[in-house]
Amino acid sequence: MVKMREQWTTSLAFILAAAGSAVGLGNIWRFSYVTGTNGGAAFVLIYLLAIILIGYPLVMTEISIGRKTQKNPIGAFWAMAPNTPWWLIGAMGVSAGFVILSFYSIVAGWSLAYIFKSLSGFTSDMDFAGTFVGHITSVWPPIIWHAIFIGLTLAIISSGVVNGIQRWVKILMPSLFIILLILVLRSITLEGSASGISFYLSPRFGDVTSQTFLAAIGQAFFTLSLGMGAMITYGSYLKKSDPVPTNAGWVVGLDTVVAILAGFAIFPAVFALGFDPAAGPGLAFITLPAVFAELPAGSLFGFLFFLLLAVAALTSAISLLEVIVAWLVDEKGWSRSSAAVFMGIAIFLMGIPCTLGYNLLGNISFLGMDILDTYDFVASDILLPLGGMMTAIFAGYVWTSRKACKEMNTPECVIFVGTWYGFLIRYVVPVPIAVIMIVGLYQKFTG
Ligand code: PHE
Repeated sequence: MVKMREQWTTSLAFILAAAGSAVGLGNIWRFSYVTGTNGGAAFVLIYLLAIILIGYPLVMTEISIGRKTQKNPIGAFWAMAPNTPWWLIGAMGVSAGFVILSFYSIVAGWSLAYIFKSLSGFTSDMDFAGTFVGHITSVWPPIIWHAIFIGLTLAIISSGVVNGIQRWVKILMPSLFIILLILVLRSITLEGSASGISFYLSPRFGDVTSQTFLAAIGQAFFTLSLGMGAMITYGSYLKKSDPVPTNAGWVVGLDTVVAILAGFAIFPAVFALGFDPAAGPGLAFITLPAVFAELPAGSLFGFLFFLLLAVAALTSAISLLEVIVAWLVDEKGWSRSSAAVFMGIAIFLMGIPCTLGYNLLGNISFLGMDILDTYDFVASDILLPLGGMMTAIFAGYVWTSRKACKEMNTPECVIFVGTWYGFLIRYVVPVPIAVIMIVGLYQKFTG
């Protein structure tokens, strides 16, 4: 019996769900700390170029592959190029999703914990760094919050795409945006914020290295949920009548605006309040409570902010798990809920070493990175760009850009990228990724 595949009820529903996938911890937690450790403005500029030249064409491509085939990433490549190894792109994506969700859920758990920390009040005499380090180095609380977060994710996934996903994102995304705006206003009006603004906006190109480029494309892929099939999967639920370039444009635009705003909320405050921009993964969790402490009713805003951050993380986690679940449902005939529960447990177990890396397994490191950073590095800086590069080569040369454009509802390729889509997807996307990955990884591994 063939069951009708679910479809987003409106174009807006798709945009919100795909933007819900894109906007998450990547825009606030990851964007701020990667910008901070890579020297600020020059990194931001390279990141923006990567978003426009590589990210946008690939978002359109992934959505089109999904809609064309109406399948999960592995099934999609198999359907378009049967009996060829192209399906391995999908398989690599499903694996990347598995790794990402396992550490993503740990960080999302930190946000859940901070919802409750805000209840006891953020005050300016607090030891913000000490509080954060105290939390992540404790053994049980991060594991318990990780379990709760995975539980929430699989509960939503089991109830299906339209009911589960669509309902949530509509109200929560705009609220996050409003709180972020309030934070920006407070942060840029703090005394001494100017040096933070300059760190964020005036590039010092002398500091740019191959690692800056590698980090920038890794961040672009991570934040746009690219290179692992999330957009293929969401595209597979998209109606044939919806215009892909416009929808993709909204998703990329919203995601970028949220990241840029997060930087304005964080960097001016980092400098005004004397924190270290290169502090690493704790940056947002250390700095933002300090900004809340400077606001009237700061603890209330802090509570709302971490709640909404957790929700933003949830709508991203849903898309990560959905890729894996869609594969098990489409290809292996599992029921939605058993696929969600089974994979939820596996991902939970896989995530545990990440948090133990801050205590019991603290002596384990790889190229100077702890366990969580290593997961993140392998997935975001290697697997996602590799998946994106292969997808571009597939679309540009195997499927051909002309057919891809047809699927996007723009037979003449007139929208924005114009006839440039073919040029972008065949050269501008894959060539720089290949160069950046080869040079960047070579230098990373040889120190
Ligand atoms: N884009 C999400 C974020 O920025 C994370 C994500 C990555 C989601 C890859 C799906 C796929 O938080």
